[in-house]
Amino acid sequence: MNNFEFVLPTRIKFGEGICSELAEEIKAMGKQYPLIITDKGLVNAGIVKKITDYLDKKGLSQYTIFDGIEPNPRDITVKKAYEVACLCKADVLVAIGGGSSMDTAKAVGVLMTHGGEIGNYEGLDKIKRPIADLIAIPTTVGTGSEVTFWSVITDTKRHFKMSIGSPLVAPKLALVDPALVENLPPGIIASTGMDALTHAIEGYTCTVSEPITDACGIYAIKMIAENLREAVHGSSKEAKANLLLGSLIAGICFGNSDIAGVHCMAEALGGLYDTPHGIANAILLPHVMEYNFISNIEKFAGIADAMGEKTQHMSKRDAAYQAVAAVKKLNQDLNIPTLKEIGAKESDIAELAKRSSVNVSVDSNPRKVGEKEFKGIFEKAFCA
Ligand SMILES: [Fe+2]
Repeated sequence: MNNFEFVLPTRIKFGEGICSELAEEIKAMGKQYPLIITDKGLVNAGIVKKITDYLDKKGLSQYTIFDGIEPNPRDITVKKAYEVACLCKADVLVAIGGGSSMDTAKAVGVLMTHGGEIGNYEGLDKIKRPIADLIAIPTTVGTGSEVTFWSVITDTKRHFKMSIGSPLVAPKLALVDPALVENLPPGIIASTGMDALTHAIEGYTCTVSEPITDACGIYAIKMIAENLREAVHGSSKEAKANLLLGSLIAGICFGNSDIAGVHCMAEALGGLYDTPHGIANAILLPHVMEYNFISNIEKFAGIADAMGEKTQHMSKRDAAYQAVAAVKKLNQDLNIPTLKEIGAKESDIAELAKRSSVNVSVDSNPRKVGEKEFKGIFEKAFCA
């Protein structure tokens, strides 16, 4: 067994109504000027007010709301939010939303203690000091960003999603409240749930996985696969709560191991077409698995089992391939579109492959992959 290190800097509180404890948590940190980083959809849906009402009731009314977060957040949005943080003299950041809000808040937290431009910190471990205190409140069931060490921000000049990674970027506290995902639209549950499944599968199979991330990864795969269809098409509150927990555990998994080929390609797609992250992952996941499964038959067969496939009478190789079939079926049941349906162009394959090949996580893919192989996988995905 290889040596490994496992870090979880984020304190996690999970439960129905747990976000009502935000004011006490901010006070316990000795802070009083929160900047809430969120998006207009959550403001319009009343979710932000629900949380600020808790702050008002506890006499913590000197908060500021920045609601300018967009999908695939850009460096210029980070800069705008940072300027607001400076203006209101924020001493703590509260991210309410999906990965876009949380990743932006992490980046703002970096600028608050390091200054400069967010692009200066691209890559692994460029952050040398703690970032501003950050409390993450996830409202989707996918990113796991509430516990991860990564902030993914679009560089507007390069149309490239850059990754800023360090344990110092992780939120100080995650308040994970199933009440906030009860009314999520089915399309958002499908796309963010497939992002979570991708995190669990890539975190479990990548080259830097270790026993603790393996335990989290396989548990999360089972939990997500068991609950995703019902959470999208049914009305079960429990299925949505389980997905939220599955997404969190998948975050703990890939946060300590890594993502791999699917995310390399999905981030290239998102950088070029602004494709929602979860949709991009869902489209590419079965194709990358089809390329990768031969690299670790045992683990891919385990994924098929965790996803409820009946593999007892199959050879190990067939059982491993069954994991690919299970993800294809899931995509169909969730009405995930194809590459053509999202407007991707075959004439962009060479560019997409090139961008995928410079992702920081390329070497974590379980089977050796480069520009040529990414091109081949994109070509296959276009035929689906
Ligand atoms: Fe992701």
